[in-house]
Amino acid sequence: TAPVTVAIDGPSGSGKSTISRRLAAAEGLAYLDTGAMYRAATWWCRRQDVELTDTAAVAAATEVMPLDMGVDPGDPTITCDGVDITAAIRLSEISSVVSAVATNLDVRAQLRERQRAIIAAERQPGGHSGGRGIVAEGRDITTVVAPDADVRILLTADEAARLARRARELHGTVDDQAIAATRDEVVGRDAQDSTVSTFLTAADGVVTIDSSALDIDQTLAVVRRVVAQAR
Ligand code: C5P
Repeated sequence: TAPVTVAIDGPSGSGKSTISRRLAAAEGLAYLDTGAMYRAATWWCRRQDVELTDTAAVAAATEVMPLDMGVDPGDPTITCDGVDITAAIRLSEISSVVSAVATNLDVRAQLRERQRAIIAAERQPGGHSGGRGIVAEGRDITTVVAPDADVRILLTADEAARLARRARELHGTVDDQAIAATRDEVVGRDAQDSTVSTFLTAADGVVTIDSSALDIDQTLAVVRRVVAQAR
């Protein structure tokens, strides 16, 4: 079968990371978490004591970032300068400032090229997937990074569903306090991010899947049907 590229965009809490990973594992594809690359750039700048407001310095640091993106959906380990940063880049000290790096247009141009190279490599026999292809997820994959992807999906969910999912993930509960604590992280970050990417509405030819009323298995089933139709 021909290699396939699946692009999935969506806001935080839409379930795109979980769904993308599960989809890649089920279809024998590689998996690319592009948000993790912006998080890694943020981690790297902080490690190098680069002020995140110094856009030129952030771009220069990102250019030489020795990042190794794991693309195995069963174990997407991310290594930077020999350090396993897979867990560290999820901490709120990174989440709370990552938008500052992600809104840097030079950084976006650089990471876009790295993402395109990883996607292209997975369409070749030598890649992790053995040439089967990749699921790449983020905010601008369907529109900017891989607008020519074989399958393009916008995964959405209403705000209440997204807040509940993130609250459970970050605080282990969905009580009022957990929801309030999550609100800034989710809604605030999406507002900042949407100044550079229009991931809240689907571009032409992008299939929108609303997961508000669906659990993970149900969402995965819908996504797999869309992929099967395209293959
Ligand atoms: O998906 P995740 O929450 O890990 O993404 C972290 C941040 O990376 C987002 O808040 C956004 O600022 C940025 N991002 C982006 N473009 C992408 C993926 C993520 O700007 N394709």
